[in-house]
Amino acid sequence: MAATSASFVLFLIAAAFFLSSATSLQIDCTGRQIYIRRLPPRFNTDLLANCSAYPLFVESFCPYTANHGLGLKTHNRSQSWYRTDPLLLELLFHRRVLEYPCLSTDPSAADAVFLPYYSALDALKYLYGPEVNSSFNHGLDLHRFLLSDQPHIWSRRSGHDHFLVMARPAWDFSQPLSNDPPIWGTSFLELPDFLNVTALTFESRPWPWQEQAIPYPTSFHPPNLPLLNAWIRRVSSSRRTVLSLFAGGGGGISASPNIRRSIRIECENTSSFDPHPYSKLCEVVDCSNGVCEHDPIRYMKPMLQSAFCFQPPGDTLTRRSTFDSILAGCIPVFFEDQSARSQYTWHLLEEEFGELSVFIPKENVVYGDLKIIDVLMAIPSWKVRRMREKVVEVMPRIIYRSHGSSPGLRAKKDAFDITIERTLERIKTRLEEVSAQ
Ligand SMILES: *[C@@H]1O[C@H](CO)[C@@H](O)[C@H](O)[C@H]1NC(C)=O
Ligand SMILES: *[C@@H]1O[C@H](CO)[C@@H](O)[C@H](O)[C@H]1NC(C)=O
Ligand SMILES: *[C@@H]1O[C@H](CO)[C@@H](O)[C@H](O)[C@H]1NC(C)=O
Ligand SMILES: *[C@@H]1O[C@H](CO)[C@@H](O)[C@H](O)[C@H]1NC(C)=O
Ligand SMILES: *[C@@H]1O[C@H](CO)[C@@H](O)[C@H](O)[C@H]1NC(C)=O
Repeated sequence: MAATSASFVLFLIAAAFFLSSATSLQIDCTGRQIYIRRLPPRFNTDLLANCSAYPLFVESFCPYTANHGLGLKTHNRSQSWYRTDPLLLELLFHRRVLEYPCLSTDPSAADAVFLPYYSALDALKYLYGPEVNSSFNHGLDLHRFLLSDQPHIWSRRSGHDHFLVMARPAWDFSQPLSNDPPIWGTSFLELPDFLNVTALTFESRPWPWQEQAIPYPTSFHPPNLPLLNAWIRRVSSSRRTVLSLFAGGGGGISASPNIRRSIRIECENTSSFDPHPYSKLCEVVDCSNGVCEHDPIRYMKPMLQSAFCFQPPGDTLTRRSTFDSILAGCIPVFFEDQSARSQYTWHLLEEEFGELSVFIPKENVVYGDLKIIDVLMAIPSWKVRRMREKVVEVMPRIIYRSHGSSPGLRAKKDAFDITIERTLERIKTRLEEVSAQ
């Protein structure tokens, strides 16, 4: 891994130089300039080289670092499908920043400063490793570095123009500093030192100041427009013979009432009803013990055949499967606003949310006698079709295309492009607020 890490660094330098000088000619970069903070390798590439030192639950994350964080291809001949682990978004995102057309080499001319710190990878030692009892240290080393190395970059705007990716839910980084010993998570987002920095996480807390939720990466990373369009055609023309699908863990379904249990019970009990016009009303894809996590075919195929995909909370309120289901053109069914509507406000706009998803308040199902299947069956087929069209329309916005993709595909905004655009806006607004004070 040491060789890989060294060549990656060389590649970073070459790519940053080539890409920033070559493409900025035709593009108006006013207000969009990003400076990439140079960090010592212990904050990024060393963490990749150490991929087997801190297990990701049980296995090492080494295989998922391949292809700049996309992971290994699902098959040798696959062009768009990878075994992507969401945790490696930090690497994938870094690689994409390197081909951003408005990179600046002068921090004092930049509108934003990107911190290529692989924070969630660094957090593994606190979450699962030997440093579990000192998780309040997470971020202090980085902060010391920012204050001591070229301190004017940080102090120019008190950190307000800095941003980073933290590829886990914010809950994993927001342990109160007063918890001794720690219960769960690091305290990165609780540190006053980083309060001004924009953190891009998979799930944000209800009233955060620092973080914004961005899409979990799926396994689909097309390199060109024809491959994206071919997938869109496949999704649009797929025969949906199953009304509803739940893909997720839950082998040990708890006995106490909760929405996953209600779904499971209803699903198992639908066989006696007439499914017309479908051939089946409900299907469960069992993803217990992480079997689906790096094996997209297990759930993508059933999702392509289903009209609706249930998105009950998993370990937290959000789930990667929300984005897999949009990718498959399977209309997501939510039970809480915080599962997506109030999270991914940059990528799934408030006004279109109702057109592309179904919302069923969980209380009505768990404690009332509302049947989810009845709600879905009552939606007229023309409306189902229209919702699916909307899902397919937003799909290109929630995928992370491959790095180095074709100019045709680059012309379409993907999850990364939207994140950068909105981060720059957010920083600009923040700086205006601060200077008005
Ligand atoms: C890599 O792992 C070793 C322990 O195996 C640890 O001592 C070292 O600090 C780690 N390096 C980084 C950059 O995390
Ligand atoms: C895929 O390609 C690699 C290297 O070319 C080879 O070692 C491997 O056996 C191939 N795998 C399959 C399933 O064909
Ligand atoms: C962390 O602290 C708890 C409680 O004080 C202790 O039981 C545990 O062994 C400690 N873990 C490590 C890895 O030091
Ligand atoms: C955060 O921003 C505020 C207002 O600009 C500033 O007073 C404060 O010092 C900043 N915090 C840090 C840790 O830089
Ligand atoms: C399924 O439905 C039958 C008949 O309506 C009912 O007796 C049974 O308890 C249900 N099963 C579950 C798991 O709810």
